[in-house]
Amino acid sequence: MATILAIETSCDETAVAIVKKRQVLSSIVTSQIDTHRRYGGVVPEVASRQHLELIDDAIEQALETAGVPWTDIDGVAATCAPGLVGALLVGLSAAKTLALVRQKPFLGVHHLEGHIYAAYLTDRDLEPPFLCLLVSGGHTSLIHVKDCGIYETLGQTRDDAAGEAFDKVARLLDLGYPGGPAIDKIAKTGNPKAFPLPEGKVKVPNGGFHPYDTSFSGLKTAVLRLVQRLKAEGGELPVADIAASFQHTVARALTKRAIRCALDANLSTIVVGGGVAANSSLRQQLQAAAEEHHLRVLFPPMKYCTDNAAMLGCAASEHLSRGRVSPMTLGVQSRMSLSEALNLYVASGDEGMRG
Ligand code: KG4
Ligand code: ZN
Repeated sequence: MATILAIETSCDETAVAIVKKRQVLSSIVTSQIDTHRRYGGVVPEVASRQHLELIDDAIEQALETAGVPWTDIDGVAATCAPGLVGALLVGLSAAKTLALVRQKPFLGVHHLEGHIYAAYLTDRDLEPPFLCLLVSGGHTSLIHVKDCGIYETLGQTRDDAAGEAFDKVARLLDLGYPGGPAIDKIAKTGNPKAFPLPEGKVKVPNGGFHPYDTSFSGLKTAVLRLVQRLKAEGGELPVADIAASFQHTVARALTKRAIRCALDANLSTIVVGGGVAANSSLRQQLQAAAEEHHLRVLFPPMKYCTDNAAMLGCAASEHLSRGRVSPMTLGVQSRMSLSEALNLYVASGDEGMRG
């Protein structure tokens, strides 16, 4: 039952957690949203500098809250990819330093694998296989989770991620950053059927449409055209109706694909992860469709859906208990396919052999 100190700094959250297998002993998340809000999005250089300022305190706080001495910590982990390179470097360097000084194994973790592992923190009896619908600001994927480190991406977005689409449409509607919560809030007073919008089907070369892939750039353009037309016609912009129609369309697209994918792959559980898992329309539609098809759907609590270090610690704990560690030569990468998640490790004892 490996206890891990885990660090997550891939974007704009400085997070540190202590996790014992599937049990969270502490989870500290310091969000930089207020800093980035004034720029309307995350500024990579600003994010790196903030991580540097916040990381030491976060580590101290995580250890103190958990009340775990260093002698009880079995490994130190950090996200190494994908994400903002400068931001990732802060967390990875901190983890390597702690591992060296405290003489503990070091593990780099794929960020998306971390999101998948949020499910295990929620349902401690959960075992693969299951389907993970990962919908965040940077990713939209349908992942067949086969075993620890063994993943098959069955569907993904061809352009914008779901959260990115929410953020861009919110900007169009002057709702501020981050866009998802703002759209969700105002959509509650709007009519989701007010404006029919295109769902963004992805054509495949031999005709027809890809069953699981999404494309949100066409939907975003359709909202832009709608806003331009309504503004040209004069009068007040029906922001709540537009927001509700957009949100309903995204949620419907994601629900249809997730259900079809789970049925086709014969997976009876769908786990949702990423910031967009907070969306009320997605929750409603997916829950209802899952019930209809006798599937189980699991929404981890929001603190584990959005970026946090507990989910990473859980993944690292599982890898370490299987005898996997990362070489100290491991670097950060802005992009990395989930199919490479297992390449981050060598067998414990061989870590000095690679690099
Ligand atoms: O997972 P996350 O915290 O960060 C990463 O991108 O890794 O996801 C952030 C995204 C943002 O795009 C935000 O607008 C979106 O999640 N989001 C939502 C909601 N809350 C956050 N989107 C739709 N509805 C929400 N209630
Ligand atoms: Zn994330």
